[in-house]
Amino acid sequence: MNAVPVRFGKMFALLLSFVSLFAQLGPVSMAPLDAENMLLSFDIIADTHIDEIWNGGRTGLLIDGLKDMSRARIKSGALIIAGDMTERGSVNEYAKLGAALNLYCDAGTILPEMGNHDIRGIKDNEGNSLLTYEFNAGKYFELLDKTAGIREETVYFYRDIEGCRFIVLNPEGMKGMETVLSDAQLAWLDGLLAESVPAGNPVFIVNHQPLSAVGEDAQELAAVMDRYNGLLDIFFISGHYHDGFGPNSITNDGTVYFVSVPAYGKSSSGDYGKTGTGFHAEVYGGSVVFRARDYTGGVWVPQYDRTVLLAAGRKVCP
Ligand SMILES: [Fe+2]
Repeated sequence: MNAVPVRFGKMFALLLSFVSLFAQLGPVSMAPLDAENMLLSFDIIADTHIDEIWNGGRTGLLIDGLKDMSRARIKSGALIIAGDMTERGSVNEYAKLGAALNLYCDAGTILPEMGNHDIRGIKDNEGNSLLTYEFNAGKYFELLDKTAGIREETVYFYRDIEGCRFIVLNPEGMKGMETVLSDAQLAWLDGLLAESVPAGNPVFIVNHQPLSAVGEDAQELAAVMDRYNGLLDIFFISGHYHDGFGPNSITNDGTVYFVSVPAYGKSSSGDYGKTGTGFHAEVYGGSVVFRARDYTGGVWVPQYDRTVLLAAGRKVCP
């Protein structure tokens, strides 16, 4: 009785493998600056704002970029999506996002994160969510499970990749455009950073809102990171403002760096406001190079690259 579904499942899996194979065919898109010494590379996009349009729309835009990433000479260690993955956090939008990632993303790990659009979901004329936090977070947990294979008790989690720590923060409530961070999440972050000091490898923190837009919990979040200023190279990665590449895409306060990622799915302001852009990061023993990439255009935008020399720790990512 189960023969038909099983056969269908096998055929579907085969189809997926063909699609993935085709996605990777074609000329190499991205070659490392120094392949011999590169320890890890990963891609960072934000604000994909996957919409309800069933065919095409922003899902097609995402797929075009994923194909570009999949043709990199060295496989990407991770794909970060720094929030506002969807336009309204609807089931359909999550289904489209999940399908695109499952079919076309070949990064070692997918690290998706929620923004205000994802956690608020659909809203009334006053901007209030019509759905509960738990319901909206539930769709995120399902995406994590079915596309990234990540199963966690909390919306915040971390992964260590090639010795580098990737910490994904996430809102624990709905409060307008702000990030709601519990004391427990901030204490957890503090503990993870403290634990990272002896190895001294770079730490990448993903939070949709930049510090200036986090709201009430910004001060405590900044204080936690500042405790490790000079001890760790911390990269705080955010989207939200929809700023295109510009001279201030990456700023710093000591060894705490702030990486502002353009809006992938919507036109950005700034010098290079095209959709389909983000940073391709390359980690070396003593530096992290953020290379500005127009993924859907298939070109580098090198005038916005930034090389950060690692100042803290042992400067080695084993
Ligand atoms: Fe956004």
